Amino acid sequence: MRHLLSTADLARADAIRILDIAEDMAAVGTREVKKLPALRGRTIVNLFFEDSTRTRISFEAAAKRLSADVINFSAKGSSVSKGESLKDTAQTLKAIGADGVVIRHGSSGAPARLAAAGWIDAPVVNAGDGTHEHPTQALLDAFTLRNHWAKVQGVESTGSDLTGMRVVIVGDILHSRVARSNLWLLRTLGAEVTLVAPPTLLPVGAAAWPCTISYDLDATLAAGADAVMMLRLQAERQHASFFPSTREYSRIWGFDDARLAALDAQPGRETIILHPGPMNRGLEISSAAADSPRSTVLEQVSNGVAVRMAVLYLLLSADPQQPGSL
Ligand code: NCD
Repeated sequence: MRHLLSTADLARADAIRILDIAEDMAAVGTREVKKLPALRGRTIVNLFFEDSTRTRISFEAAAKRLSADVINFSAKGSSVSKGESLKDTAQTLKAIGADGVVIRHGSSGAPARLAAAGWIDAPVVNAGDGTHEHPTQALLDAFTLRNHWAKVQGVESTGSDLTGMRVVIVGDILHSRVARSNLWLLRTLGAEVTLVAPPTLLPVGAAAWPCTISYDLDATLAAGADAVMMLRLQAERQHASFFPSTREYSRIWGFDDARLAALDAQPGRETIILHPGPMNRGLEISSAAADSPRSTVLEQVSNGVAVRMAVLYLLLSADPQQPGSL
C-alpha cells in the first residue's frame, strides 16, 4: 500500500501496525525535544481545499516532529480561486519536489484521483474527502478507544484490538466521513457498532452496513455502551431540512446533561464520550458532557499527532517494495 485513502481497504495487520507505531510516536511527544530525524530532507505538502483546524495543525505538527519540511497550502488565497484544476495544482507540487501529499477536499474521491492519475509520484494521505472517508481520524479514534479498552480489560494495548467493545456513533451519519471511516475500521478491529440517528440523516443503504441501527439514543445507552461518539451536524453539507428544529434535534439526538447523568447512574461501565471536533456545544453535545472526565476530545487531538506521525513515517520512510511496509 503506497497511499492511505480509506479504512475500508485497510487490513487488520496494517491498522494494528499503525496503532503500535503511534504508541512509540506518542512517547516522542512527551520528551523535552519532541523530534525524530526520520524524515529529514523530505518535503510534505498539506493541501487543504476545505477548512480545518485540528487535522491541518496535527498533520503539520506530525511532519515537523519527524523533521520533514512542511508546505501548507490552502485553496483560499491560492490559484485555485483563479480556476486552477487539481491536475495543475498536483503537477506544480511534483515540480516543487513534494515527497508526500496530505489532501483534504470537498469532493469525495479527490485523493484517490490524485493517487491514481499519475500526476504526482508521492504517497497521498486522505485528510477528509467530502462525505466519503477520513482515515486518519478513524485511526486516532481507534487509538483512543484501544487505550481505554485495554485498561478496562487489564491488558497491554500494544498489539491488541477492540474485540467485544461496544461503540455507539450518534448524529449526522449521512454527511459524515468520520462515521464511515470509523465504521469500517472498528469492524476490522472487532468492535460492535451501533449507529443512532434520525432516519433522515442515515444514508440509503445503511441497512446493509455491518452494524446495528437504532433510532432511540436512550435505549441504546441503557443497553450499555463502552464508548459514545458524537458527530457534528454538518450544516455546510445540508441542503435540505433534515429535522424540524435544532432544539428538537438536541433533545432527541444530542448528548445532553440528562444523558450524562443517566450514564453516571449506570454502575460498572466506564463509558467514554468522543467527538472529532469541531463541536457545536449545546447542539449535539452539552458543555457538561464535552468537559466531563468521560470526554476524550482533547486526548483525541493529542493522539492525532502520534497517529499521523506513524502514518507519515510508514508511508514515506518504509520501502514500498518490501512486504510489511504500509
Ligand atoms: C471532522 C471532519 O472534518 O471531517 N473533523 C475533523 O477532522 N476533526 C468532522 C467534522 O468536521 O465534523
